[in-house]
Amino acid sequence: MTTKLSVNINKVALIRNARGANIPDLMEFARKCQDYGADGITVHPRPDERHITREDVRNLSKLFPNEGCEYNIEGYPTEDFIRLVLEAKPSQVTLVPDDPQQLTSDHGWDAIAHRDMLTESVKEFRSNNIRTSLFIDPIPQQLEAVKQIGADRIEFYTGPYAHDFPLAQSDEQRTQLVHSFVAVLPLINELGLGINAGHDLNLDNLSFLKESIPQLLEVSIGQALVRDCLYFGLENTIPMYKRLLC
Ligand code: PXP
Repeated sequence: MTTKLSVNINKVALIRNARGANIPDLMEFARKCQDYGADGITVHPRPDERHITREDVRNLSKLFPNEGCEYNIEGYPTEDFIRLVLEAKPSQVTLVPDDPQQLTSDHGWDAIAHRDMLTESVKEFRSNNIRTSLFIDPIPQQLEAVKQIGADRIEFYTGPYAHDFPLAQSDEQRTQLVHSFVAVLPLINELGLGINAGHDLNLDNLSFLKESIPQLLEVSIGQALVRDCLYFGLENTIPMYKRLLC
């Protein structure tokens, strides 16, 4: 099964914001991602608008629907965020538990503790035909809570996997790194949840994750992909990632 590549363009916005002018142009970058084969564009607007602004979220929504390319908006479901997402009407919203000051997402939801709030948010998005995904760690009780909440998918937080991947020298060590994901795959199948993954994925660690989770539907990748664009160019980088996802 082919896994979809959603390109997270936060860092492109960060470079633009450093100078105040519209360089690089985020809309043009997103259009080119689509031209070069990206299956999706992901943005993660933060309350302080340090990279993606609310205006970006609205402008980017004009590029969709686009056959073969989806819009995915990530964020903590504050009232402001929910309003923005309902306005932008993406294909998917990925809810993440990060507080406003956090540098980047570094853990999945405690879906048990936040069950009521997440159930309300998910219901609102689903009734507007927006697919919902919850950023989560591979813990059986959390996955069961995701199902009760009514989300369509989970996004595995892959930060720790990616962090330790360069240290794993043997197949056995690499297998150990994905053990917690692989162990919950039968439960996820039983619950009927789709699987996305993201965080710190790159050209080195992506193939092994994909092989280990054959039903992986989508990965969202930002930091490393933007780095690779500096070396290889966007036109080459997107196909390099996509080849690993076939
Ligand atoms: N998934 C989520 C929920 C994220 O918060 C991020 C970072 O914005 C990513 C995926 C992409 O991570 P990276 O930039 O490390 O590829």
